[in-house]
Amino acid sequence: MTAGPDAIAQAVRLLEEGKLVAIPTETVYGLAADADNPAAVAAIFSAKGRPSNHPLIVHVARDADLSHWAIEIPPVAQQLIAAFWPGPLTLILKRAPGVDDVITGGQDSIGVRCPSHPIAQALLKLFRGGQGGIAAPSANRFGRVSPTTAQHVIDEFGSPGSGPIAAVLEGGPCEVGIESTIIDLTRLDTQGPVLLRPGQISVQQLEQVLGCQLATADHAAPRVSGSLDAHYAPRTPLALIERQALVDTMATLKAKHRQVLSLVIDKEVVQTKALQAEGLQSESLDREGVFTTHMPSDPQAYAQALYAKLRALDQVGADLILVEQPPKTAAWQGINDRLQRAAFDSAGVLERWLA
Ligand code: TXA
Ligand code: MG
Repeated sequence: MTAGPDAIAQAVRLLEEGKLVAIPTETVYGLAADADNPAAVAAIFSAKGRPSNHPLIVHVARDADLSHWAIEIPPVAQQLIAAFWPGPLTLILKRAPGVDDVITGGQDSIGVRCPSHPIAQALLKLFRGGQGGIAAPSANRFGRVSPTTAQHVIDEFGSPGSGPIAAVLEGGPCEVGIESTIIDLTRLDTQGPVLLRPGQISVQQLEQVLGCQLATADHAAPRVSGSLDAHYAPRTPLALIERQALVDTMATLKAKHRQVLSLVIDKEVVQTKALQAEGLQSESLDREGVFTTHMPSDPQAYAQALYAKLRALDQVGADLILVEQPPKTAAWQGINDRLQRAAFDSAGVLERWLA
């Protein structure tokens, strides 16, 4: 059952006391703390094992006063806010002087986002009378797969009260399933708006609103921890591979007594929330005796299911997860970004086993 008004009010009290609360958003679950309480924000970093120079996103209600966080809200920011908030879009703005270094990782920019999940919305409306900010990274340990259900959060950090988290607000499986799109608006004079992290909101949708092209991140861009080459990774090695090669590779590795799992795209699969919540439901034991998980061919449904599937596959403790390379089109950009990062650490594993 999703959290009701009492649970939300209790979460607000805990946050105002400086505790950590896991909250649902439409993208992934966040590990939340009062953004105006540096000690509470510092507790997020220690719970996650996240390096202190990686900045956090501040979540705000739709009509919160952004000037508390940013010194300047340029017209392009207003346009993007009007088009996409509440929703899975984070804006990087020039930070206001009162914002603590602990949130920004010492940078002179600040990430802000207004999530659309009804529970996040209700929480933000109550918290400090709708004018507060809630700092929240994804509620996973650093570098790992983001949580898209409340149970994933508990799997990462233990039950509420037993570990670093005081409460977990149940909000059902996340609609979007991958983290927000991040746009940097701090260097408009020289770079224009820059895409730091692709997500469900596509480059085309953004460019349509902006009326100009989006640049992609360069080395001078503000740091984004999700843009480390290796990130979002299951513990099991993962390789991205075209469909035909995947089938052949599974057979070859099976002959070498390797346990291989695979994630393939299947036009027949229509993903539902219920299916996603059950993790391995759409998995089948195929004739080769190898686990094949069938993923939906619609990119939004694929993204919604992806992290739950990766977590479930990781539980099996196999030697390798082979993931069918999705189409390299705009609608799949956020997904391809996460899969490439998930595969980064295991680059070379497949080649070694095939050699
Ligand atoms: O969808 C999301 O964005 C989720 C939900 C919980 O809102 N949050 C999330 O947070 O993905 P996190 O911390 O896992 O990733 C946020 C990314 C990081 O890569 C961080 O470096 C970047 O946003 N970021 C935050 N503030 C920034 C800043 N001032 N400049 C550049 N990047 C920033
Ligand atoms: Mg994260």
